[in-house]
Amino acid sequence: MLIDTFMSLIPVGCLVLLLAVAGIVSILWTELKGAPYVATPRRTARRMLELAEISSEDVVYDLGSGDGRLLWLAAQEFGARAVGVEIDPIRYAWTKVLIRLKGLQGQVQVIRADLFKVDLRPASLVTVYLSRETNRLLMEKLGNELSPGTRIVSRKYTFPALNLIREDVAEELYVYLIGKA
Ligand SMILES: C[S@@+](CC[C@H](N)C(=O)[O-])C[C@H]1O[C@@H](n2cnc3c(N)ncnc32)[C@H](O)[C@@H]1O
Repeated sequence: MLIDTFMSLIPVGCLVLLLAVAGIVSILWTELKGAPYVATPRRTARRMLELAEISSEDVVYDLGSGDGRLLWLAAQEFGARAVGVEIDPIRYAWTKVLIRLKGLQGQVQVIRADLFKVDLRPASLVTVYLSRETNRLLMEKLGNELSPGTRIVSRKYTFPALNLIREDVAEELYVYLIGKA
């Protein structure tokens, strides 16, 4: 009886172990590619968009979009179009599901890709919450691809060579403007 119970628990144990290993691999891999997944609280995400003076005219790119929370906010509360770029296949798939469930197919899109390989030219507002090193590597691409007037809002980490126009020191949010003094 006890052995039967033990044997029947093995598949459950294997599944839990598999999920735990997948979780750890995902954290290590995304850390290596740019930044591990840490969600921005909804209130801070809203503050990011407001600080960047988002409008319904904007095309927002969230580089490393996680579960897509900045995308919904930009679309549902501010009427903007939003594109997420996410390298993690599980978070990408989850975002796809949520786009459907929320009925946002016409307004929100997610691309499964390395953010360093995506064409950023359509963006008018870029949001990032990555790492110091990833921001450093990204700086040149932002400067090369984004049009004058595009804003970039970064959580926690700065872009020292870009033109800082606004900040919220308490929240560690920094807004930059491309191409204008
Ligand atoms: C700190 S989380 C931020 C998630 C979301 N933007 C937010 O603020 O809630 C960073 C995200 O970037 C993703 N990421 C890391 N490196 C990436 C890369 N090279 N290309 C695309 N996404 C990447 C991670 O998988 C993770 O979901």
